[in-house]
Amino acid sequence: MQPKNKKINAAITAVGMYVPEKILDNKYFESIVDTTDEWITTRTGIKERRILENGASSDMAAYAIQDMLKTTNVKPEEIDVIIVATVTPDMFFPATACLVQEKIGAKKAWGFDLSAACSGFLFALQTGASLIESGTYKKVVVVGSDKMSAITDYTDRNNCILFGDAASAVLLEPTTELQYGIKDSILFCDGSGKDVLNMKAGGSLNPATKETVEKRWHYIYQEGKTVFKAAVKGMADVSYDIMQKNGLKPEDVAYLVPHQANLRIIDATAERMGISRDKVMINIDKYGNTTAATIPLCLTEYYRGGKVKRGDNLILASFGAGYTWGAIYLTWSID
Ligand code: COA
Repeated sequence: MQPKNKKINAAITAVGMYVPEKILDNKYFESIVDTTDEWITTRTGIKERRILENGASSDMAAYAIQDMLKTTNVKPEEIDVIIVATVTPDMFFPATACLVQEKIGAKKAWGFDLSAACSGFLFALQTGASLIESGTYKKVVVVGSDKMSAITDYTDRNNCILFGDAASAVLLEPTTELQYGIKDSILFCDGSGKDVLNMKAGGSLNPATKETVEKRWHYIYQEGKTVFKAAVKGMADVSYDIMQKNGLKPEDVAYLVPHQANLRIIDATAERMGISRDKVMINIDKYGNTTAATIPLCLTEYYRGGKVKRGDNLILASFGAGYTWGAIYLTWSID
């Protein structure tokens, strides 16, 4: 809910995206693990996902930001801050944000990486909005970029069918038109989810050894059913709660913009909010779960497809590793 004395909102003023060319369809997975197109489609909603063959998350992030800047008069050197939401940084350090800064030539920017898995974009968007609302920064880039293929075990049929690679970016700028922009957020993290969705090795707890590699601890580990149940409850509840908190009825919401992990989680969230499928942004069929990139990717595609208008109320919602989850209420401001 907007504080009464608020003078500036942070608004999304440009969007951009990058998806790699290489496509892995469900038929391909039939050839590498014991699965079927029918199982994947009915249990997840996924038909295809993109795979980055050369390069890393910073490359995809830079391409997405460049794609975004092409649509504005903003030059790279005008960017104040770059926040990269990712769980697949190029390296532990330096931060991917530094690599992106160099690649796009954002000569005056500072920045950092934000690790919140599938909720990374929402956490980064709220962080970026707060930097704008502080009055200190005028141009904050928030980009979600994940090369999930780098941490996916392609022998594990439970997980390998779920993930893909992509990046997508938004530009945040201040607006004094308070009917637009980011209006409210409800965000959570709960470390009790650490055992059911994680990548165990490579950090300070389990530094890389021959043994960690042999145990396949450098890949995503997920207990799908447990995470599924937590995600349905977490994402549906928080989406409903942000509507209640802001007095929004289903007819006031133009779109739910959900994290794209599983179509059944998305449907459960829409049902709880009382909104129909035609008011839900969905592209999981084309890209699978691209972690921090899913939500801005939806925003970019639907905006470019002419489906989102200035003044539309959007509810962005996510659930992911940690656990992390939350929802953001914003009013679209781009013509
Ligand atoms: N192809 C065929 N069968 C598969 C399969 C695949 N790719 N993956 C799993 N199965 C099997 C399982 O082995 C299990 O077989 P069993 O009953 O003989 O043991 C059966 O399908 C059902 O497995 P289950 O785990 O109950 O399926 P599910 O309906 O929960 O769907 C997921 C599995 C992973 C799609 C689902 O749990 C999910 O989406 N989880 C949450 C993902 C998520 O939101 N993550 C958070 C963000 S990253």
